[in-house]
Parts: sequence; C-alpha cells; structure tokens
Amino acid sequence: MSKKKLTVIGSGNVGASVAAYASAQELGDIVLLDILEGVPQGKGLDLYEATPVLGVDSRVIGANDYEATSGSDLVIITAGIARKPGMSRDDLLSTNVKIVGEVAEKSSKYSPNAIIIVVSNPLDAMVYTAWKKTGFDPRKIIGMAGILDTARFRTFIAQETGISVEDIQALVLGGHGDTMVPLTRYCFIGGVPVDRFISSERLDQIVQRTRQGGAEIVSLLKTGSAYYAPAASAIQMARSVLLDKKRLLPVAAYLDGEYGQKGVFVGVPAVLGEAGVEKVVEVELTQLEAKAFGESVKAVKDLVKEVDKFL
Ligand code: APR
Repeated sequence: MSKKKLTVIGSGNVGASVAAYASAQELGDIVLLDILEGVPQGKGLDLYEATPVLGVDSRVIGANDYEATSGSDLVIITAGIARKPGMSRDDLLSTNVKIVGEVAEKSSKYSPNAIIIVVSNPLDAMVYTAWKKTGFDPRKIIGMAGILDTARFRTFIAQETGISVEDIQALVLGGHGDTMVPLTRYCFIGGVPVDRFISSERLDQIVQRTRQGGAEIVSLLKTGSAYYAPAASAIQMARSVLLDKKRLLPVAAYLDGEYGQKGVFVGVPAVLGEAGVEKVVEVELTQLEAKAFGESVKAVKDLVKEVDKFL
C-alpha cells in the first residue's frame, strides 16, 4: 500500500493538533497549510523534527500555496475563526463561510479525488459550504461533531461512575449545537444500559453539560475554543477513511432520504471507509426523540439558508 497524503488546512490550535496526532500515528505525509506566512512552515518543521524521536516516517511540511497539497487523499479543514466567551458557534457563520468556501474550493482543484473532513464551525453549515464550493459527491464530505459530543458525554459518564471511558458507548444525533440530541437510550457501559448506573435526573444533568461542553472549554480558555478533543475526533474519522476501516461513527453526513430528510448534512451514525460516507445507519427513535431530531434539523436548515446568501 502506498503512503497516503493528508492536507490539514489551518495551522492554528485544531489544525496543528490534527497534524501532531496524524504524524504520531503515521497516517501518511502531511501538508499543513495556512494564510499566515511562516507559521505552517514552522509548526510543520517542528512536527517533522519530532518524528525521529517518535520513530515514525511521517513527512510534515508547511505551506501557503495549494500546489503543495496536490494529490492529497484526505483534506481536513480547520481554517476559520474560533469562539470567544459569549459567542455561539452560529456567530462564526459570516466569517467562516467565506474562509471555508475559499479553502474548500482551492483544495478540491488540487486534490479532486480527496475525501474532505470539515472541523470549522458552525459545523453543519460549513460542511454544506464545502459541498457547494467543491461540487463533490456529498458522500465525500464529512463533518466532525458527533464523535466529539459523544466523547464529552463518555468522559462525564466515566467521571460519574468511575468506570473506564473505553467501555462507555454513546450516540448523539442532530446538529453540532444547542439542539444536539444525545440518545441516552443508546448509552451502554460494557453492554449494560446506563440507567443501571446513573439516575435519570443525574443523567439529564450530564446531557445538559454535554450540550454545553464546547462553551465550558471556551469559558475556561477565554481566548479560543477546544482543540485536543476536536483534533482527536477528526483523527478517528481520518483513520477510518485512510485505512478503510468501515467504522460506524457519529458524523455530519449528507442525508438523501434517510431519517425522512433530503439535501442536508447533519449528525447521524455512518460507516466511514475509503469512499467517505459509505452508509448512513438509521436508528429507531421514540416520538420525543424524533421531535428533538426534527427541531435540530430545522435549526441546521435555517443556518444553511444564511449560508446560501453568501454563496
Ligand atoms: N486559509 C487558510 N488558513 C486560514 C484562512 C484561510 N483563508 N483563514 C484563517 N486561517 C487560519 C488562521 O490563520 C489560523 O491559523 O485558520 C487558523 C485557525 O486557527 P485558530 O485561530 O487557532 O482556531 P482553532 O482553535 O484552530 O479553530 C479553528 O475549528 O473547532 C473549530 O470553531 C473552531 O471554527 C474554528 C476552527
């Protein structure tokens, strides 16, 4: 198998962390691209110089022009501004739609066969933007959100129960925002339903903390938003695509009739492989869950209408 090529657009907190994890896991050669001159080159060289110590053959380079990215198998978009205290992800829309639109279009010209993973926020709207600007088959464009949201939920459940995070399984549907739908019915600890361990009142509080998980980090950092967990989540998706692992992961995927929705990218469980989203898996929802999912999809669609004004 020939070595893979990854491009990471944006060499800020999330992008540099993605590049660091990807090189340490030897996912391929990496190009780190940013508009800032010197920063991607400096961080890229620093990461490359870590590889002899880590004992991995990942070549990392920084660049300002897209020529260097040509022929990538995977492009991970992290460019854009991040939240500050008091801002919602939606407040980033007008700035990030221009940035994500531009970088997606340029990357697609140089890497027409790439799969694209979008991390920039507001997530579901940015995935849509990348799709519109590249004209790619929508199954090749995937948004990172659900893995992060469930990772936060799993961490809080582990803190609560003292049981390993590894044995906690969770599922969240819908948009990456206040309307996300954590499905506690589908949460298990080592195969045992979570309500065997935690009362429903306490579980509701944990769900609420999960919804606010991004804001919790923003209010602590004060100068930006989370990056280690978002980067690790993007890497889990990247591994499934590059190694064709067919993992079933919660991601923002294009719906073409699944869940009764069409033409929208939103969080659902999907199988990721070398073709991108290879299958969207539909789960049975109670009336209440279906209602919450419907409201979340509506919030995403409203945001997408705003995106259309900029495209
Ligand atoms: N092309 C390339 N890079 C760009 C462009 C552009 N047109 N515009 C901005 N960037 C770069 C910035 O120069 C910066 O280095 O994107 C980087 C963003 O880095 P940070 O400000 O550190 O933000 P980060 O925390 O990495 O978050 C990036 O990911 O999780 C989301 O909400 C978050 O939308 C935000 C994105």
